[in-house]
Amino acid sequence: MENIAIQTKNLCKSFFSNNEERVVLKDINLKIKTGESYVLIGGSGTGKSVLVKNIMGILTPNSGSVFLDGVEVSVIPKNKRIKMKSQVGMLFQGGALFDSMNVRDNVVFGIHVHTPLKRADAEKIAIENLELVGLDKSVLSLYPAELSGGMQKRVAFARLIATKPKIVFFDEPTSGLDPIMSNVINDLIIKTTKYLGATSLTITHDMNSARKIADRIGMLYKAEIVWEGSPADIDTADNQKLHNFINGIY
Ligand SMILES: Nc1ncnc2c1ncn2[C@@H]1O[C@H](COP(=O)(O)OP(=O)(O)OP(=O)(O)O)[C@@H](O)[C@H]1O
Ligand SMILES: [Mg+2]
Repeated sequence: MENIAIQTKNLCKSFFSNNEERVVLKDINLKIKTGESYVLIGGSGTGKSVLVKNIMGILTPNSGSVFLDGVEVSVIPKNKRIKMKSQVGMLFQGGALFDSMNVRDNVVFGIHVHTPLKRADAEKIAIENLELVGLDKSVLSLYPAELSGGMQKRVAFARLIATKPKIVFFDEPTSGLDPIMSNVINDLIIKTTKYLGATSLTITHDMNSARKIADRIGMLYKAEIVWEGSPADIDTADNQKLHNFINGIY
C-alpha cells in the first residue's frame, strides 16, 4: 500500500468580516504521496497560503480534516504535536527570519529547536547549508535588514533544510530571485524531496519552477482544486482555467 504523507478531506475555510462569510476553500481533497513533490498554482488571493496554513495547523479549518503521515492532526493533543512538528518544516512567503538575530544565529536557532547539538556542530551544519544556497561565511554576522530580499529568502531556505524535515512546505520559494538563483532553489527543492526522501508541497506562480520541480501540479481557482496533473499534461490539458492562468489571460 502506498503511503500518503499529506491528506485533506473536505477541508473548508471561510473568513468572516462584517457578518459576511467569505469562502476561501471549499471541500479541498488533497492526497500527496510520501516522497512526492506537489506544486500548488493559482491566482493571487485564491487561498494557496491559507490552505498550507490549515494543513500546518497555523489556521483551523471550519470543517473537514487534515492527515499528516496518516495521523489526523487536529485530534492530537497539543502537547503531543511537538514530535510531529519537528518533522514538518515551512518556508514562509516572506522568509520570516528573526530580525534581532544575525544569519549565523538564525540558522543555528532552527537547528537547535529540532535537535540538541553542541553549538560548534550546529554552526558547522549552518555553514554547510548556507553554502548549499550559494552564501558564504561572509554573511554569517549580517542581520536580515542588511541582506537583499533574495538573500533573506536563501537564508530562510538554508534554515529550513538544515533541520531535514520529512514534510516540507515552500510558499513562493523563488519569488524575488533572479533566474539563476531560482534554479539553485529549484534544484535544492528537487534534492530535498528526492534525496532526503521528503514530501513537499510548494506554492508558486513561477511556471518554470513548477514544471521543473513538480511530480504533480494542482490548480486552485475560486476555492476549489479545478485541475490536477503532471507537468507533461499541462500543454495538452483540456482545461480553460488552467490555460488562462498559464497564459495570463483574465
Ligand atoms: N487570517 C486571515 N483573516 C482573514 N482573511 C484572510 C486571512 N488570511 C488570508 N485571508 C484572505 O484569504 C484569501 C486568500 O489568501 P491567501 O494568502 O491564501 O492567498 P494566496 O493564494 O496565497 O495569494 P498570493 O499568491 O498573493 O500569495 C485572501 O482574500 C485573504 O485576504
Ligand atoms: Mg500566498
